[in-house]
Amino acid sequence: MCGIIGYLGGREATPILMESLKRLEYRGYDSAGVAVLELPRAGEAVRTSVTKSEAKVDTLIAKLKMNMPSGNLGIGHTRWATHGKPTYVNAHPHTDCKGKIFVVHNGIIENFAELKAELEAAGHEFPSDTDTEVVPHLIEANYKGDFLAAVRAALKRIKGAYALAMFSSDDPELLVGARLNAPLVVGIGDNEYYIASDITAIIPYTKRVLVLGEGEVAAVTPLGAEVSTLDGVTVNPKIVHVDWDVSQAQKGGYPHFMLKEINETPEALANAMRGRLTDDGTVSFREFDVADKQLRRIDDILLLGMGTSRHAAMIGEYVIEDWSGIPARAEDASEFRYRRPTVGEKTLGVVISQSGETADTLVAMQQAKARGALSVAVTNVVASSAARDADGAIYLHAGPEIGVASTKTLHAHIVSLYLLAMRLADVKGRVSPERKRELVEALRLPVALEGALKLKEISYIHAEGTSGGELKHGPIALLDDQFPVIAICTAGTTKDKMVSNVHEIVARNAPVLALITKGDRSLNGVATDVFEIPEVDEAAAVVLNTVVLQLFAYHVAVKLGQDVDQPRNLAKSVTVE
Ligand code: M6R
Repeated sequence: MCGIIGYLGGREATPILMESLKRLEYRGYDSAGVAVLELPRAGEAVRTSVTKSEAKVDTLIAKLKMNMPSGNLGIGHTRWATHGKPTYVNAHPHTDCKGKIFVVHNGIIENFAELKAELEAAGHEFPSDTDTEVVPHLIEANYKGDFLAAVRAALKRIKGAYALAMFSSDDPELLVGARLNAPLVVGIGDNEYYIASDITAIIPYTKRVLVLGEGEVAAVTPLGAEVSTLDGVTVNPKIVHVDWDVSQAQKGGYPHFMLKEINETPEALANAMRGRLTDDGTVSFREFDVADKQLRRIDDILLLGMGTSRHAAMIGEYVIEDWSGIPARAEDASEFRYRRPTVGEKTLGVVISQSGETADTLVAMQQAKARGALSVAVTNVVASSAARDADGAIYLHAGPEIGVASTKTLHAHIVSLYLLAMRLADVKGRVSPERKRELVEALRLPVALEGALKLKEISYIHAEGTSGGELKHGPIALLDDQFPVIAICTAGTTKDKMVSNVHEIVARNAPVLALITKGDRSLNGVATDVFEIPEVDEAAAVVLNTVVLQLFAYHVAVKLGQDVDQPRNLAKSVTVE
């Protein structure tokens, strides 16, 4: 996920920006940049020096060391590409037509395409492919001599998520921060101020932090930081004292990245849907912008993935087939390549990969393409191999996942596949509620498989996932009082069948932890323990149940003292076959 740092104070800004960007590296990024308002020499006008790197922060630092901008006000950014490839031009900071306003941004601007069209019609030029670039131009369009007023007017037009740090060379003593649906803090030092997306960036400089609220703007000058709403109403800032060291700060105060990332699920889900789903249920994907006519021709869906991504593919299989009526199949990508599968020009190959670099998945996709399939990569990494090789991409926008175990990205994958299913159902003009019963049964199995995978990979306890129906065909033979079972019994058409299964399991003395819908009493006195989830639609229950299983695996592994974030023998991205 992108990182932001801004500085205003009595010291040289550039070294502080450089150090802070290094500390933000752990968030994952692809490019970086800084803008520093340079101190004018006698007789010269104020100028801003912009330095960018389409690679790592170290490259940026090397460039800055060769030509060190000198000034007391600056902003810096590490970019995790969402709109537009990780290139020099797309790296932040971005500026307006006159090169006076400089902006760094985290988040996604949902309505950027319409704003960009409007601004282009008014003569603004946009060198980059980013959504961010509309911000400085919108501020420029609203600028009538008061930078803060122009920022407020511009932000009122923006929908989506933003954390922003900005300045204008017309106001050399003003650093502005603003946020909506993305975090931003203001660090308060001794006569110096910082704006950061993340406390990690500023922890060595100050422990006093002002936390901006939703839709609030911070105007930072040498006299202090003033917070107000977009309507200009002054807000009493909330100042907190942070007592974390750098490592705690990187994990947002959580003991492990895995736990932090599970807790980032709501944000990941919101980002996966942002700008793609209208109120009337219409779905569109910017980087997979295929005409209805072309999609209508599709009569076969092939979903490819490995590990957790294969479990997401299995969920996608059931939902896509059920909602759109198009036959769908989820395949183990490593096996697919050794078969002679029936794939043709009416096949849509959906490649599921968090990293976009899994070797087996990439090879399987190439084979599907070679047989004429239209392909789309559902991936978290912009311009990854999968995204580049496929005909289109659906990006998760979940931010980097640092723990080896896939958690929030599984949920983002599931939601993205729901959206794809809706899009296909829409062009096919059908949704088929009559297959609901089969769907619910089917959706529970990947959840159980994923729960078992999580337990195996981080606690090293063997576990397996099975459907309720399959239990009596083999797995029941394993059961005794030393074989605990987690039963997914949340509301749905097969719930009663699952309750019967739990009775059968308990009769074999196996302890049962049942996941139930809040208020359900049917397993009272039967299950050893229950975990309640709220009453939600079955599609949403898939995500909630998975979160519970992830947390279960996490806590078991922690209790056993295992290395949760980097389990033995595993790699985050398996780039060899
Ligand atoms: O990057 P990918 O989604 O293609 O990775 C595929 C698997 O290696 C991955 O899902 C793996 O199973 C998980 N990290 C396990 O939690």
